[in-house]
Amino acid sequence: MSLPPVIAIDGPTASGKGTVASLVAQQLGFHYLDSGALYRLVALASAKQGVEVKNSTKLGFLVPKLLISFKNGQIFLDGEDVTDAIRTENIGLRASALAIYAEVRSALFDLQHSFRQTPGLVADGRDMASVIFPDAVLKVFLTATAAARAERRYKQLIAKGISARLKDLLQDLQERDARDSSRGTAPLLVADGAKVLEASNLTIDQAVKTVLDWYQSAIA
Ligand code: DC
Repeated sequence: MSLPPVIAIDGPTASGKGTVASLVAQQLGFHYLDSGALYRLVALASAKQGVEVKNSTKLGFLVPKLLISFKNGQIFLDGEDVTDAIRTENIGLRASALAIYAEVRSALFDLQHSFRQTPGLVADGRDMASVIFPDAVLKVFLTATAAARAERRYKQLIAKGISARLKDLLQDLQERDARDSSRGTAPLLVADGAKVLEASNLTIDQAVKTVLDWYQSAIA
């Protein structure tokens, strides 16, 4: 029996891939995996437990003990709603810092695979196409200029009532881009066979439509 199809959408932070991926999943009636949320959950849990971000062994052990659940767009950690708590810049930076460790990445491997269920999965992250689902039927690398992404993140945070400075956000995301792209394990890259979608000047709807069209062609 063949495995359910996967659409892998990778890209740098704040490129809009989360929004695009979840809308594509909705349109197709597919499941959705926000793999960045998993790294953010490890960041939050380890900060709460006082585990140092450099202690890769302890971080690896911590992962299987986490009680994670996704329900109606909300994310729970050990029964607590952490949907907003994992979205802060601090947690994003911490997630990027601990994501360099093979111990953390391999501890999250099976959990990510468990999202692959019928009728299909849209998975977003950094290494969905290259490492986690190399057999994805469609691989998309969704990107935008750093300035466009910083502005997106700024608007998101302000809309949530979280104060932010555009200059700091731009610096943070450039720091994360550099680390996510240069790490030895599963770096952010355009996977073999991936289609690049430059979304700086596209609306969300246009980006979603492009991915859906590519998917239809891929399965035709
Ligand atoms: O997509 P995001 O900004 O929520 O991801 C937070 C961090 O997690 C990101 O800076 C790098 C890491 N990450 C990763 O290494 N691999 C993934 N598949 C997803 C996220």
